[in-house]
Amino acid sequence: MSSLFDFDKPADAYAVMGNPINHSKSPQIHAAFAAQTGQRIVYSATQVDPGGFKQAVGNFFAQNGKGLNITVPFKREAWALASELGPEAKLAGAVNTLLMNKEGELVGRNTDGVGLVRDILLNHGGRIEGQKVLLIGAGGAARGVLQPLLAEAPAELLIVNRTPNRAYELAADFTASCQELNVGISANVVPNNASNNVSNKSAIKGAGFDELTNLGKSFDIIINATAASLQGEVPPLPDECCSTNTWCYDMMYGAEPTPFMQWCEQRGAKVTLDGLGMLVEQAAESFLHWRGVRPETAPVIQKIRSALANH
Ligand code: ATR
Repeated sequence: MSSLFDFDKPADAYAVMGNPINHSKSPQIHAAFAAQTGQRIVYSATQVDPGGFKQAVGNFFAQNGKGLNITVPFKREAWALASELGPEAKLAGAVNTLLMNKEGELVGRNTDGVGLVRDILLNHGGRIEGQKVLLIGAGGAARGVLQPLLAEAPAELLIVNRTPNRAYELAADFTASCQELNVGISANVVPNNASNNVSNKSAIKGAGFDELTNLGKSFDIIINATAASLQGEVPPLPDECCSTNTWCYDMMYGAEPTPFMQWCEQRGAKVTLDGLGMLVEQAAESFLHWRGVRPETAPVIQKIRSALANH
């Protein structure tokens, strides 16, 4: 492990690759982690052209780069490129963290889901175990957090999506992957037979918004993993799904509460959170994989939050 005072050794190089990348807060976050832990690293942001990802990763590690974060749209390509995958990355079908093992092989990890779970449990004192969880969205962002959420043994996990088929397929496909990889889905996740329309072939289930409306019930936790907030939109949720006991989490974040958070607040949700904590937690988990040291996230979350507010 190198320290800040190892002057004769060049600092270890890390980077985030994506397209676009200029919005990325990762360089700021990792610089703060390095200063806090005394780790001597440099961390840059690299925009990669579509079609150039494999080459860019190859060049980075050939030049003695130590680790990469991967963001949109390359997480799936990174998954395909890795020779070794963490169990969470296998199931996520996406990788946001790359490093080399001792044999010089590329290792892929996915720290997004752990970041979400740590933010809810540790930063906000929430509980997932035994809770009814509604996950909105059936794209890569939703898939990436399924395994760490299920590992916390929720009572129920329902995936709802604008295109219902994608939700059914994600639920079925994820369950099949768990069986194939021999990863147990928590025994607490019991199929809920409240609606015949909701696909209940798997321990986790998929639904469309109409089916959710027909269920007419509330959830303990609602997680928005859609891109709707980016478009200033709110997924078409029925009012009943949010009660005064509901925790709402938008994986997006911004200077102001997102449209989804505002929708939840208007319905009296107990807690509404944005994804800034998840962003910093996933970065901390990557830092831990790379450096063997877990940084404190609270001061960094606070720092990025104030920078957002003052922008
Ligand atoms: P990502 O990898 O970020 O998850 P994605 O695979 O394109 O990106 O998935 C985007 C998700 O956001 C999908 O679940 C999408 O719903 P569809 O599958 O029906 O397209 C959802 N989404 C995007 N915009 C939305 C909106 N305005 N309202 C509701 N859902 C939306």
